[in-house]
Amino acid sequence: MGEERMIVVREFDPSRDGVGVEEVERRCEVGPSGKLSLFTDLLGDPICRVRHSPAFLMLVAELGEEIVGMIRGCIKTVTCGKKLSRQVKISAAAATTTTNDPPKPLPVYTKLAYILGLRVSPSHRRMGIGLKLVRTMEEWFRENGAEYSYLATENDNHASVQLFTDKCGYSKFRTPSILVNPVFAHRIPISNRVTIFQLDSHDAELLYRRRFSTTEFFPRDIDSVLNNKLSLGTFLAVPRDSYKSDSWPGIDKFLFNPPESWAVLSVWNCKDVFRLEVRGVSRVKRTFATTTRMVDKALPFLRLPSVPEVFRPFGLHFLYGLGGEGPRAVKMIKALCAYAHNLAKESGCGVVATEVSSREPLKLGIPHWNMLSCAEDLWCIKRLGEDYSDGSIGDWTKSPPGTSIFVDPREF
Ligand SMILES: CC(C)(COP(=O)(O)OP(=O)(O)OC[C@H]1O[C@@H](n2cnc3c(N)ncnc32)[C@H](O)[C@@H]1OP(=O)(O)O)[C@@H](O)C(=O)NCCC(=O)NCCS
Repeated sequence: MGEERMIVVREFDPSRDGVGVEEVERRCEVGPSGKLSLFTDLLGDPICRVRHSPAFLMLVAELGEEIVGMIRGCIKTVTCGKKLSRQVKISAAAATTTTNDPPKPLPVYTKLAYILGLRVSPSHRRMGIGLKLVRTMEEWFRENGAEYSYLATENDNHASVQLFTDKCGYSKFRTPSILVNPVFAHRIPISNRVTIFQLDSHDAELLYRRRFSTTEFFPRDIDSVLNNKLSLGTFLAVPRDSYKSDSWPGIDKFLFNPPESWAVLSVWNCKDVFRLEVRGVSRVKRTFATTTRMVDKALPFLRLPSVPEVFRPFGLHFLYGLGGEGPRAVKMIKALCAYAHNLAKESGCGVVATEVSSREPLKLGIPHWNMLSCAEDLWCIKRLGEDYSDGSIGDWTKSPPGTSIFVDPREF
C-alpha cells in the first residue's frame, strides 16, 4: 500500500524514458520457461504502435527513479452501427414529393479509444500499478470526448482479462480471428480467371466509404489510413470475364454497375514499425524449419510449404479492409491473398497476417496456418460516458456482432 502511493504516473518523455521503457518491455517478454513466446521489437520507438492515430498518448509508471510500467492509448472516430436514411423530400412551395428510392443505411459514428501495450514489470505486479495506468489513461480518454474504450487481449491472458473485466468494468465484446500465413520461398500462382487492379487512394477511399462505412469499427478517417506511407496499396479482384486487365472502367462506373462478384483488400507494411520473433523453441524444431525453407528455396517449383523464418526477427504485412460481394467473392479474395503473399515475399516478410470477424464469410478464401493463427482474439469494451444520449443505436457494448468487422491496421 505504502509503495502504491509513491507510484507516479506521467506522460512518456522520449528524451529520458527510452531506456527504462525498453527494460520493462524486455523483462515482460520472458515467458514461462519451456513455452513459446512472441517477442516484439519496436525498433527503438516505443510509441510506434499508436503514432499513426489522430490522437495518442503514452504513460509511464515510475517508482522512485525506476520505470516499472507503461500503457499506450489512442482515440479516433469509428462506426458503431447504422441507421436508415430518411427518404429525400423535395419540397416545392405547397407540394411535398417523396422519392421512391429505398432508404440507404448510413453509418453512426462514435469516438472510440483504444488501449494497447500495457506492461508492468514482473517484479512489481499485483501492486495496483496496472490499474492506476488504466485509470489515468481513461481520464485522458474522457477529457478528449471518447465515448467508448476498448482493448484486445488473448483469451487466456488471465491477468489482463481479470484486470479489465473485474476491476475496470469492461465486458467481453468481440472475438475476431487473427489469420497468419507464412511467406514461402516460392511465389503463389494467381488464377488466370481473375483480373487484379490496383486502385489509387482516392478510388480506394470512395469504394470503402460507399461499401464498408457501415461495418463496425470502420475508421472515419479512412483517407488518412489509405494515404499513410505504410499503406502499400489497395487491390481489387474481378472475374476476368467481367474486365480484362487493361479495361478498368473507373471507380464511378464500377460502383454504379459492379460485376456480379468482386473483392478488395489493402496491404499495410508493419515491417517498418515492429519486428516479431518466436523464442523458446527447441533446436530440433528450428532445424526442421530451416530445412524446409532451404528445400523450398532450392526447389521453388515444387511449391513445398516451408516453415517461415520466425526464430529470427521477422517483419509482416497486414491485410486490412477485406471485403467483397457475389458468389465468387471467396475466389476473388483467394487471388488477392496470393497476390499479397507475392508482394510480401518481395519485401522479405516472414508472414502475412490479417484479422477478420469470426463470422466473416470471406474467411474461407484466406489461406492461413492454424499453428501461427489465433482463432479468438478477445476484444473487451467499456462505455466511458454513461451520460451520453443513446442516440440512434443505443449502447454499442450491448449490440450483437455483425458478420464483418473493420480491423484498423494502425492498431494491429
Ligand atoms: C496485466 C498486467 C499489466 C497487470 O498489471 P498489475 O500491475 O500486476 O495489475 P494490478 O496490480 O493493478 O492488478 C489489478 C487487478 O487485476 C487483476 N489481476 C492482475 N494480475 C492478475 C493475475 N496474475 N491473476 C489474476 N488477476 C490478476 C486482479 O483483479 C487485480 O486486483 P487484486 O490484486 O486486488 O486482486 C501485468 O500482469 C502485465 O504486465 N502482464 C504482461 C503484459 C500483458 O499481458 N499486458 C496486457 C495486454 S492487454
